Amino acid sequence: MEVIIVKDYEEASQKACEIMLNVVKNNPTANLGLATGSTPIRLYELMREDHKKNGTSYKDIKSFNLDEYFGLDQSHPQSYHYFMCHNLFNELDIDMNNVHVPKGNGNIDEECKAYNQLLEDNPIDIQLLGIGSNGHIGFNEPGTPFDSVTHKVDLKQSTIEDNARLFFNGKIEDVPTQAVSMGIANIMKAKKVLLIASGEGKAKAIQATVEGPKTTDVPASALQDHPDCILVVDEAAASLLKNK
Ligand code: PGA
Repeated sequence: MEVIIVKDYEEASQKACEIMLNVVKNNPTANLGLATGSTPIRLYELMREDHKKNGTSYKDIKSFNLDEYFGLDQSHPQSYHYFMCHNLFNELDIDMNNVHVPKGNGNIDEECKAYNQLLEDNPIDIQLLGIGSNGHIGFNEPGTPFDSVTHKVDLKQSTIEDNARLFFNGKIEDVPTQAVSMGIANIMKAKKVLLIASGEGKAKAIQATVEGPKTTDVPASALQDHPDCILVVDEAAASLLKNK
């Protein structure tokens, strides 16, 4: 694991953008694994700005999102499909046929199977991740086996509360209780992993991920075994690291 400590959220987003653009420019047909949540919002804004200013093209790029709530149609403003269109895709030249977000309705088991096949057929060149305050990656909550692939998830109460605060106007009852998520084994297959963490609320999870034992109690600790994993962490999120 390479840990890059930067000053704040803005610097973390700039650094992550540099790493993402490097992949896209070096491989115009790259497969990007993308994430939602509040953390990548500024990164996506920087990617949109770069596209507008410098013309970096996503014409032949494919994208594969980590997860989706189950029970929200893709047109629902809180769905991750909608989030991605609004925060990134609508302002890039990406072909929407090349955009993949797990489906949040229909037959969930079939959807998980199809998404796993899609990932088998399209190896991810760079997987972007945020991290939950409980150490989750994607919707892989504590206790998820490291050999898990795309699966149906029952969301933990702490995640429902975090997401209600940030995205559902505080209305806990509106947050779906289930989701479809890439598994930890899918994430570990990506050629490169880029995890961004910002703020004090992530400090414990980052400490456990980097310096703690590898344990399913901290899903992100699986990344200790990834051969090319970069953590871009701001000072607040790095504050509990013992070896800086
Ligand atoms: P956040 O979520 O970016 O909104 O903090 C990260 C995550 O839960 O993976």
